[in-house]
Amino acid sequence: MILVTGGAGFIGSNFVQYWIEATGESVINLDKLTYSGNLENLAPLKNNKKHLFVKGDILNRDLIRDLLHEHQPRAIVHIAAETHVDRSIIDPEPFVNTNVVGTFSLLEETRRYWDNIPNKDSFRFLHVSTDEVFGTLGLDDEPFKETSCYFPNSPYAASKAASDHMVRAYHQTYGLPTLISNCSNNFGPYQYPEKLIPLMIIHALHGKPLPIYGDGLNIRNWLYVNDHSRALQMVLDKGLPGGYYNIGGDVELTNQEVVEMICVILDELKPNSPHKPHASLIQYVKDRPGHDRRYAIDARKIHRELGWKPKQDFKTNLRETIQWYLENEKWVQNMISGDYRNWIEQNYTQRETVV
Ligand code: NAD
Ligand code: DAU
Repeated sequence: MILVTGGAGFIGSNFVQYWIEATGESVINLDKLTYSGNLENLAPLKNNKKHLFVKGDILNRDLIRDLLHEHQPRAIVHIAAETHVDRSIIDPEPFVNTNVVGTFSLLEETRRYWDNIPNKDSFRFLHVSTDEVFGTLGLDDEPFKETSCYFPNSPYAASKAASDHMVRAYHQTYGLPTLISNCSNNFGPYQYPEKLIPLMIIHALHGKPLPIYGDGLNIRNWLYVNDHSRALQMVLDKGLPGGYYNIGGDVELTNQEVVEMICVILDELKPNSPHKPHASLIQYVKDRPGHDRRYAIDARKIHRELGWKPKQDFKTNLRETIQWYLENEKWVQNMISGDYRNWIEQNYTQRETVV
C-alpha cells in the first residue's frame, strides 16, 4: 500500500480515487481536515476497503511513526499543505508550520522507517509541489524548466520552496529515493471556492461581484486535476529518484480571459438566470501584494521521459467543471457556510473597486 498525505483536499481526494481505480492498490490517507479538507470529497470511496482514512497532522511524529510501522507502505505521496496565496499573505504562520516543519517531520520519520526496510531501492517519497517556487515571468520569458532557479515571492511559495529544498537534501544526504513534481494551476470538481475558478463560478451563480485583482492581465497555466493525478502516478511509477518533474497544461490565459470564459459558459448553461450576462458582474479590485505576473510551464521532460500529456483541452474541462458545480449544489452550500464567509469578509471587504 501507499501512504498519501492531504488526501481529503482538492488534489489529494482526486489522486486517492484515481490511484485506487487505476492500480487497485490500497491507500492510507492521512489528513488533518483543515478548512479545505473535507470527507465529502471522498464520498465515492465510502465503504471501499482499499481506502483507510486517518485524521491527523503531519506535524504529529508519533502518529506518522506508528502509521509507517503498522502499514509498511512502499511509497509516500506528500500532498498535504496550506495552499492559498492570499491566506499566506494575511497569516503566514500555518504555512511555515505545515509546509516547512510538517514536511520535515514527515521526511525525518520516513528516513528512520526507510533505514530499516529491506527493499530500500524500490521505496519512493513523492513530494507534490508547485510552479510558484520559480517566481514570476515576463511576457517574453521562457517557461519554467526543471532547472529554473527558485525565486519564490509569496509566503506560500517560499514555504513550498523550503520544503522542496528539504526533500532534495534528504535525497542528496541520506539517499532517500525522492521525487519532486512542480505543477501549474489546477482546476476541477471539489476545489475549495477560495481559488479563482470555483470562486468565480459560485459568485456568478449567486449574482455576486466577480473580483478580478489588479488589471486582470496576470497569466496562469491551467491543468485539469485528473491530468495532474495521472501525471503523479506516472512520476511515482517511472520517475528517477532525485528527479524533478514539471507538470502543466497547454494553455496560458489571463485571469480576465478565464473569468470571461466562465461567464459565457454560464450564460449558455443557465439561459434563464436573472444574472445574465454574467460578465456584467465583473469588478476590478485592489491587487494582491507581490502578485506574480505570469507562470508558464515547460513540460517537455515529463512528455518525453514518462509519456504524459493532458487528455482534453481547457475549454472542455472548464465546461465540465462548471457543470459539476451546478449539479453539486449541496456540496457548494456546505462549503460556503461558516469559515468560508469569514474568509470572504476578511479578503474582499477591504479591497476597494478599481475602475
Ligand atoms: P487543498 O487546500 O485543497 O488541500 C490541502 C489538504 O491538506 C487538505 O485536505 C488539508 O486538510 C490537508 N492538510 C493541511 N495541513 C495539514 C497538516 N498539517 N496535516 C495533514 N493534513 C493537512 O490543496 P490542493 O489545492 O489540493 O493542493 C494540494 C497540494 O498540491 C499542495 O501541496 C499544493 O502546494 C500542491 N499544488 C496545488 C496546486 C493547485 O493549483 N491547487 C498546483 C500545484 C501544486
Ligand atoms: O501555480 C500553482 C498554484 O496555483 C498552487 O501552488 C496554489 O496552491 C494555487 O492556489 C494556485 O495559486 P494562484 O495564486 O495562482 O491561484 P488563485 O486561484 O488564488 O489565483 C489565480 C489567479 O487569479 C491569480 O493571478 C490571482 C487571481 N485572482 C484570484 C482570486 C482568488 C483574482 O483575480 N481574484 C480572486 O478573487
